[in-house]
Amino acid sequence: MSITKESELIGMKRISEVVGTTLRLMTEYAKVGMSTKELDEYGGEILKSYGAKSAPYETYKFPGYSCISVNQVAAHGIPSEKIILKEGDLINIDVSAELNGFWSDNGGSFVLGKDIHNHQPLVDASKNILYKAINAIKGGVKIADIGYLIETEARKSGFKVIKNLAGHGVGRSLHEEPSDILNYRVRSNRERFKKNTTVAVETFISTNSTYAVEQNDGWTLVGNKGGFVTQHEQTILITDDVPVILTESNGFWK
Ligand code: CO
Ligand code: CO
Repeated sequence: MSITKESELIGMKRISEVVGTTLRLMTEYAKVGMSTKELDEYGGEILKSYGAKSAPYETYKFPGYSCISVNQVAAHGIPSEKIILKEGDLINIDVSAELNGFWSDNGGSFVLGKDIHNHQPLVDASKNILYKAINAIKGGVKIADIGYLIETEARKSGFKVIKNLAGHGVGRSLHEEPSDILNYRVRSNRERFKKNTTVAVETFISTNSTYAVEQNDGWTLVGNKGGFVTQHEQTILITDDVPVILTESNGFWK
């Protein structure tokens, strides 16, 4: 969305702080032996305590408050009492919500407990690449150039990117224009980031796959060539200088 007055900025800051805090608390709450359903319900209670509504449920009738994707699941994992967290699992939690007509979105991947499967390099690459990408965004920068940065940094780290998942505008709804802030360069895309707009920038860094494929449940996405995928996402306000990270309460870079 385009921020044209102070009240809009206040609204976006508020919901962003809520989703950021919810993501941080859920990440801290995740324990070995817990089901993803229990983790999701914990997050759902936090959103409710702020008066916020789950965006995936409100927008798409997603069967959960948040998306929780474990191991081979790349994104849009459905919280389930049958999915029990284990030591060394690669977990992604994505929390997006609405409050007073403002919407914000953030997500992050992490390793649960001891990193016995060596997922940490993939997690670190995703987190670092998001940091670099966000710091390169300001009004007038081409969206395709940020895609190129993400793709290049992923390759330098020995990883790939998922090509059919993307960041997006956010604010008055969950998904707005620009709809395709991709993790690679589309040369024909001449669209530029605009000052005073809010967007959600997200990485999709992978070990093997380059496309996410939907499973029969109509939600769960897995990589087309298997392996693992990590995602980090922040909602930001674009300025003339480095962006304001509205969801920084998630504590990614603390
Ligand atoms: Co998200
Ligand atoms: Co998003």
